[in-house]
Amino acid sequence: MENKAKIITVAGKGGVGKTSICACIVRTLVEKYPDKKILAIDADPAVGLSVALGVDVKLTLDGIRMSIVDSVENGETREALELLSEARFRIFDALVEMPGFAFLAIGRPESSGCYCKVNSYLKEVIGMLANSFDYVVIDGEAGIEQIQRRVMDQVTHLLLITDQSKKGAQVVTTIKNVADELIHYDRIGVILNRVTNPELASLTQVPGVEILATIPADSQFAANDIKGNSVMGLPADSPMLTGVQDALHKIEII
Ligand SMILES: Nc1ncnc2c1ncn2[C@@H]1O[C@H](COP(=O)(O)OP(=O)(O)OP(=O)(O)O)[C@@H](O)[C@H]1O
Ligand SMILES: [Mg+2]
Repeated sequence: MENKAKIITVAGKGGVGKTSICACIVRTLVEKYPDKKILAIDADPAVGLSVALGVDVKLTLDGIRMSIVDSVENGETREALELLSEARFRIFDALVEMPGFAFLAIGRPESSGCYCKVNSYLKEVIGMLANSFDYVVIDGEAGIEQIQRRVMDQVTHLLLITDQSKKGAQVVTTIKNVADELIHYDRIGVILNRVTNPELASLTQVPGVEILATIPADSQFAANDIKGNSVMGLPADSPMLTGVQDALHKIEII
């Protein structure tokens, strides 16, 4: 195995299971590779991955960025890279150490702030942190904006997540086309999640991309989420976990 970090990210329409799948990826890596350094990044300002992984977040990247902006003269006009050099050591304050993995949240920018600023900051942070870890799992926001802005431009594994809706498949098809133009990735695959009509599963296609796994609607997983419990407590044979593991196996992450 090459010694460069594996950077795994998910993309897809809103609500298709990106955060849930990321949490299952992190759990799988933690259990399978207890000696590896694993970083989970919640890159969605709407948050969610912290809850799915049972992490209590106190400081976010945006929190750091805002406090630096506040503390420097003409901070508003500074570029992300300048901010980064000042903030370098503070990023480690925002890393939450969990059993088997570290966690970082982008946070929710103030309503007056511009989300694109924290996105470009995040891009630098990913680049800076990636080589200190063996695995980086990034839960992105819904849609194509973060791909378009090349927040994740050095991905090794791009996982396109969709449900059985036509719209979901259209969104990941668009994301694939944009990714091909704008970012670098080594491997790509589709996870068809929350399948309610298995007899129609073959109708969901993304041109040129392999379907890595088909995951059924998993009411036990949903119940766990409704209760606000972390995926760390799910039984090992839960369909969501085994489905995610099938996909990771197919794309040679595990
Ligand atoms: N296979 C599944 N079976 C049952 N419920 C699921 C499944 N996958 C995800 N869910 C549920 O669907 C809801 C949306 O999932 P999740 O938050 O992971 O989607 P998302 O793509 O991250 O959404 P967003 O775009 O808002 O970030 C959650 O309540 C989750 O528990
Ligand atoms: Mg999400």
